[in-house]
Amino acid sequence: MDKYIKYFEANKALWDAKTPIHAASKFYDMDAFFAGTNTLRHIELGELPSLEGKTILHSQCHFGQDTLSMERMGAECTGIDISPEAIKKAEEIRDELNLASRFVCCNVYDIDKHIDTLFDLVFTSYGVIGWLPDLDRWAAQLCARIKSGGYFYMAEFHPVLYMFDWGTDRIAYRYFNDGNPYEEENEGTYVDNKADIKMTEYFWQHSISEILNALIGQGMDIVLFNEYDYSPYNCFPNLVKLEDQKFQFKHNGIAPPHIFSILAKKR
Ligand SMILES: C[S@@+](CC[C@H](N)C(=O)[O-])C[C@H]1O[C@@H](n2cnc3c(N)ncnc32)[C@H](O)[C@@H]1O
Repeated sequence: MDKYIKYFEANKALWDAKTPIHAASKFYDMDAFFAGTNTLRHIELGELPSLEGKTILHSQCHFGQDTLSMERMGAECTGIDISPEAIKKAEEIRDELNLASRFVCCNVYDIDKHIDTLFDLVFTSYGVIGWLPDLDRWAAQLCARIKSGGYFYMAEFHPVLYMFDWGTDRIAYRYFNDGNPYEEENEGTYVDNKADIKMTEYFWQHSISEILNALIGQGMDIVLFNEYDYSPYNCFPNLVKLEDQKFQFKHNGIAPPHIFSILAKKR
C-alpha cells in the first residue's frame, strides 16, 4: 500500500483536524450521548444480529460514539481509526463514561499488525470506504478478523448519491472506481459547512458490485442487502427532512438511492 501513503497522511491530518470540531458539534451532540443516547441509526438497529455478549471490531470508529453505544448494548468492543486525535477523544469519552471499549490507532490496511483476535462481528458505517483505495485488501483485513459463523455488517452512503455535486445538483463524479482518487480542497465539514477548516482530501468512488465482490472474494455469504432512499443523517447540503432520521435529496424531482447496507456471514 506504499503508493497510497501520501493520501493516507493527508486524510489522517484532515480527520485529526475535524475531530475537535465534530466532538463539539450539535451534530454529534455529546450532551445527549453522555445522557445515554444510542448513536446507532434505526437502519442498523433493525438489521444487526443481537449484540448482547458479542465481541465487535468497529472499523473507522471516528471518536467512538457508535463503538461505545454498542458496548452499552452489551457488546465487548474494539474500535480502530487512522486518526490519533479521534482515538484520543474516544478514549477520553470512554474513561469519562466508565466504559471499557478498546481503541487502537491504525490504518485499516494494517489491522493485522495490531490485532490478532477474532470477533463475532465486524462493523463499519457511514462515510468509511470512500477513504480507501483498495476494497479487496479492505475486505481481506476485516474478514480475517471474523470468527467462523460470525458476521460482517456495513451501512454506508450509496455510490449513486456520491455522484452528485452538492453545490450544483449536477452529476459530477463517476460511479465506477478507475483506481484514481479524487483530490479536493474543501471548506467546513458535514457537521458545519462554515467551520473554520480548509484542507485537501483524497477519496475514491466504489460501485456496489466492487463492494459486494470484495466480500464474496473473502468467502463471505451475503445474507442481507438493502437500499434506502433517504439518509439517516442531515449531513449534506439541501436535504429535506421527511421525519426523524430521514433526510432526502432529489435530483429532477427523483430521490436517488442514499444508503445501502450489507450483512454477510463467514462460513
Ligand atoms: C466519516 S468517519 C466515520 C464516521 C462514523 N460513522 C461516525 O459518524 O462517527 C470516517 C473515519 O474513517 C477514518 N479513516 C479514514 N481513512 C482511514 C484508514 N485508511 N484507516 C482507518 N481509518 C480511516 C477517519 O479518521 C474517520 O474517523
